[in-house]
Amino acid sequence: MFRFETAGESHGQCLVATLTGLPAGLPIPLDKINRELWRRQQGYGRGGRMKIETDTVEIVSGVRHSKTIGSPIAIIIQNRDWQNWTDTLPVQDYEGSDANKKQVTRPRPGHADLAGCIKYNYPEARYILERASARETTARVAIGAIAKQLLAEFDIQILSHVIGVGPVKLDRQATWDQIAALSQKEEVLLGCIDEQTERRMKEAVDEAYRTGDTIGGVFEVVARGLPTGLGSHITWDSRLDGRLAQAIVSIQAVKGVEIGYAEEGASSYGSAVQDTIHYDKQERAFTRGANRAGGLEGGMTNGQDLLVRGHLKPISTLRKPLESVDLETREPSKAAYERSDVCVVPAAGVIGEAMVAIVLAQAFLEKFGGDSLSETRRNYHGYMEQVRNF
Ligand SMILES: Cc1cc2nc3c(=O)[nH]c(=O)nc-3n(C[C@H](O)[C@H](O)[C@H](O)COP(=O)(O)O)c2cc1C
Repeated sequence: MFRFETAGESHGQCLVATLTGLPAGLPIPLDKINRELWRRQQGYGRGGRMKIETDTVEIVSGVRHSKTIGSPIAIIIQNRDWQNWTDTLPVQDYEGSDANKKQVTRPRPGHADLAGCIKYNYPEARYILERASARETTARVAIGAIAKQLLAEFDIQILSHVIGVGPVKLDRQATWDQIAALSQKEEVLLGCIDEQTERRMKEAVDEAYRTGDTIGGVFEVVARGLPTGLGSHITWDSRLDGRLAQAIVSIQAVKGVEIGYAEEGASSYGSAVQDTIHYDKQERAFTRGANRAGGLEGGMTNGQDLLVRGHLKPISTLRKPLESVDLETREPSKAAYERSDVCVVPAAGVIGEAMVAIVLAQAFLEKFGGDSLSETRRNYHGYMEQVRNF
C-alpha cells in the first residue's frame, strides 16, 4: 500500500514527509524531485516568501545508491525562513518567549484562522495558519515526484497547464506537446500555452496587485499512457474519479474539481457528451470518438488521457483587508495581513500534478503490486498481454 504523510509548519525548521509501499529498485534521481519543487515555486503573482526559499530535498532513508530499497522513505526540506522565526516558534518554551509571538488576532475571511482557533481553543491564529499554509504542499510535491518516477517506468506521464486566471480563459484545446513544452521552460509566467491569453492573464494579476486584491483560476492536469482498468466501479471508495476529486480539492484554496468536460457536459444533451465507441480491426484496438469523459468511465481509467481540472478561489490574505473581528476585543476590525501571494494558479497546477501522480501510483500498485520493480513489471506486462488479447 502506497501511503504518505507530511509534517511541518510554514515557518518551522523544515517540512518532512514519509512514504511507504514503493517496490525496491525504483530509480530516484534527486534532480528530478528538485525540479518539481522549483516548478512549484514559480509563477507571476507569488509573494516574497518564494524569493527566500530555494527548495531542495534531502532523503534520509529508504533510498540507497539512487534506488528505493523497499523500506520507508523519509524526506526533509529545510525552510530557509526558519532563521527569522526561531524566537517566534521555538520548540521548547523559554522565559519571555511570548513577547516574540507574532500573534494573529484578526482572522482572515476564507482562511483557516477563525474555525481553527475555535476548534483548537487558541486565542489567536498563529499555530493554525502555520499548518494550514500551502507551504505544506512542498512535501506533497516531493512525494508526487517520486510517484511520477514510478509511473514513468511504465511510460505514464503527467503534466499541467493553466486554463483560466480570474475572468481570462484559454479558449482552445491544448495539445500534449504544447503542455509538455511549458514544463521545460526556465521562466514561468502564468503557465498558459497561448502567449496572448497569458498576457491577458498577467494583466488580470496586475489589476489585483494594483487594487490590493487577489485572483484565482483554473488549472488542468493531464496524464497520458495509462492502462485501461485502474480504479474500479465495484465500491464507492475504489472509484478513481472520487479519489482524484478528493486529492485535488485537498489542495489549499481549491474549491472545485472537474473530471473531463464536466461543467460543459452538465449543460448539454447526452448525445453531445458521451464518447462514442469504435473498433480498429487492423490495429485490433478500441478507439473513441472524443475524450469528453476525461479518461474515466465507471470510476476506471479507459485508456484515454486523464483530464482533471482544479478551480482555485482567490487567495484569502488581501493587502486591502476585508471586514473581520478582533478576537481580543470582539470589535470590528480589518483582517490581518501577512506577506502573501496574489495569484498561485500555475503552482497549484504543479501541486495538482503531484496529487494526481500519488493517486495514480496508489491505484497502479493496488492493481500490479510487487515488492521489487521487476515483480511489478512482470505483473503489469502480464495484464497488458491480457488486454491485447481481449
Ligand atoms: C500554492 C499555494 C500558495 C498559497 N499561498 C497563500 C498565501 O500566500 N496566502 C494565503 O492567504 N493563502 C495562500 N494559499 C491558500 C491558503 O493556504 C488556503 O486558502 C487556506 O489554507 C485555507 O484553506 P481553504 O482555502 O482550502 O479553505 C495558497 C494556496 C496554494 C495552493
